[in-house]
Amino acid sequence: MLEWLPDKQLKKRSLEAFFDYNFLPLAKQVSAMSDKHRKTIRSFVRRTGRMTPSQKKALSELWPIYGLEFTSSPSQFDAIFQMPQPIVLEIGFGNGETLVEQASQNSDQNFLGIEVHDPGVGHCLLKAHNAGVENLRLIIHDALEVLEQQIPEASLARVNLYFPDPWPKKRHHKRRIVQPEFVELVASRLAARGTLHIATDWADYAEHIDEILSHSDRFSCTHRREHDGDQPLDRPRTKFEQRGLRQGHRICDWCFTKSA
Ligand SMILES: C[S@@+](CC[C@H](N)C(=O)[O-])C[C@H]1O[C@@H](n2cnc3c(N)ncnc32)[C@H](O)[C@@H]1O
Repeated sequence: MLEWLPDKQLKKRSLEAFFDYNFLPLAKQVSAMSDKHRKTIRSFVRRTGRMTPSQKKALSELWPIYGLEFTSSPSQFDAIFQMPQPIVLEIGFGNGETLVEQASQNSDQNFLGIEVHDPGVGHCLLKAHNAGVENLRLIIHDALEVLEQQIPEASLARVNLYFPDPWPKKRHHKRRIVQPEFVELVASRLAARGTLHIATDWADYAEHIDEILSHSDRFSCTHRREHDGDQPLDRPRTKFEQRGLRQGHRICDWCFTKSA
């Protein structure tokens, strides 16, 4: 196809140009696609769960009180909460009962909850309203993006991750939220000596968490306990914990402290 070119030099240059033009963009496209693919591996599936009329009402009437919209730049949480106090973040709060209970029992701390499941958020809003808590705000968005973009560095006192989706099939393990990048991200958003609390009822996920955190120099494990839900903890029992216990699962609870 290049026979019409006058000399070898031009032929060579044209060949290079041909490859640059046709294949480099393709290589870039492939790389962009794989970046995009990596970014779209989510730790959740948006379920279209049925919302009760009261959850719907809560979302429209109480969201203006407790809700925070996702923003792609760091929020000023001191201006958002009524009092500037240490901030506790719960990732994937489910129906929010644990979150509301903790917020109402600890008025000297501010609580931020992130969830993507609308009926759970509706339920949480109702609970928060009934408990009259004022130190609580909720965000409906992927927690990884919120951590990355909306939460300022070194701004959190504590992060709670209670019973994250276990993704038990091996081919789904990449969807588990606890990954080296997640641990790094949480460490960067925690203040000095901040803590990361995790609990799971899946033995296989517990091994995964041990493995990932043991390779992190950002945290040291200050507490690890396996139990049958029969021991006092520093948190109320969650809905998924109760479900796990009914199925005969053992619970594993950790506290990791950010290294100095
Ligand atoms: C197994 S449930 C546990 C709920 C609650 N923590 C409990 O123990 O009852 C996990 C929750 O995490 C939420 N979730 C998973 N990945 C998330 C993410 N990246 N951002 C926000 N929420 C997420 C899911 O929607 C789900 O409600």
